[in-house]
Amino acid sequence: MTARIVYLPGDGVGPEVGAAALTVLRHTADIFALDIAVEEHVFGGAAIDAAGSPFPDETRNAVSEADAVLLGAIGGPKWDKGAGDKRPERGLLDMRKALGVWANLRPIKPHPRTSAAAPVKAERLAGVDILFVRELTGGLYFGEKGRDADSAFDTCAYSRTEIERVVARAVDYARGRRKRVTSVDKANVLDTSRLWREVVEEAAAANPDIEFESVLVDAAAMHLISDPRRFDVVVTENLFGDILTDEASVLLGSLGLAPSASVGDGSGGVFEPIHGSAPDIAGTGKANPVGMILSAALMLRYALHAPEAADAIERGVEKTLNDGVLTAELGGQARTGEVADAIRANIDEKATVSG
Ligand code: NAD
Ligand code: IPM
Ligand code: MN
Repeated sequence: MTARIVYLPGDGVGPEVGAAALTVLRHTADIFALDIAVEEHVFGGAAIDAAGSPFPDETRNAVSEADAVLLGAIGGPKWDKGAGDKRPERGLLDMRKALGVWANLRPIKPHPRTSAAAPVKAERLAGVDILFVRELTGGLYFGEKGRDADSAFDTCAYSRTEIERVVARAVDYARGRRKRVTSVDKANVLDTSRLWREVVEEAAAANPDIEFESVLVDAAAMHLISDPRRFDVVVTENLFGDILTDEASVLLGSLGLAPSASVGDGSGGVFEPIHGSAPDIAGTGKANPVGMILSAALMLRYALHAPEAADAIERGVEKTLNDGVLTAELGGQARTGEVADAIRANIDEKATVSG
């Protein structure tokens, strides 16, 4: 059966890294005989311009019928003055809610060649392997908001169910890894965090094979840079997860290297790099496509049930980085398309047996 992928290029560098990911994805699908159909739809700022809404009905219908959504990035200065539903970001939040993708997985595993560009001592980066599980459809992003001339508010609300499901998901992932879950909250100040911590303590009691800790978000932000090896799976609420993962991308050497997978109860999901539309480098060929290409690998693994093809892309990326094919922000000279071509050429059907 043909897997239906909806591709949303979006804005800024989105279409540039998106084209790079499609090159690699199509080639990998050929090698592994995967039957995929990619259809493109407008989304974000481009959709405001074309259809008057960041998430038009035709895009909404397409993503709700798709087996997976592959997204570049949205947003940019052109739309920054727009109010509420005329903002590209509104489209992204509406799509996450509509598809029920409540867990956003953001792996952070520094590669020695690129983390040389990180402003953190190399010996602190060796062995770092973190999986962030960010709650994605609750919290401040989705609570009641309001604005008049001189005041504004955003509400942070979480239900027990919303917390339980994302903590349970984090536990599942930890069980396949180093069996350690760090929950990040602000329980010394926020009621939502106190409920969050209660749920985490219940999960700890129910899962004695997993080591749990709860860390306050301010301290977690510090530990992430000073001792990143202490983390295995990190589970946290929406806004903390947004901020901490951009911070964690510094450990990789570049925001442009970090992929993500947004998943919910069913199959499918949204796969996108964690970076934005990077208006400062859009159109220059400097965008690093690796985060987007690794997001396509996560799509193959989590939504299309093609783990071998996903592994092949990850090995292709690994080899390309080892070869020093790097974009400008990592000290290299390769352009977006050149990195993609090198990764494409480095896709092998089987892992090479070494030693
Ligand atoms: P950004 O992530 O776009 O860029 C931050 C910095 O990282 C910039 O200096 C940029 O050049 C660099 N960078 C980002 N991606 C890169 C890549 N692939 N290769 C090399 N360098 C890269 O964040 P911003 O500038 O604060 O936001 C720009 C717009 O993107 C805003 O409208 C924001 O709302 C939107 N945004 C969208 C998403 C998304 O689509 N998921 C995520 C974050 C931000
Ligand atoms: C991300 C982005 C989005 C978020 C914005 C663009 C709404 O920063 O995917 O990390 O905050 O979730
Ligand atoms: Mn973000």
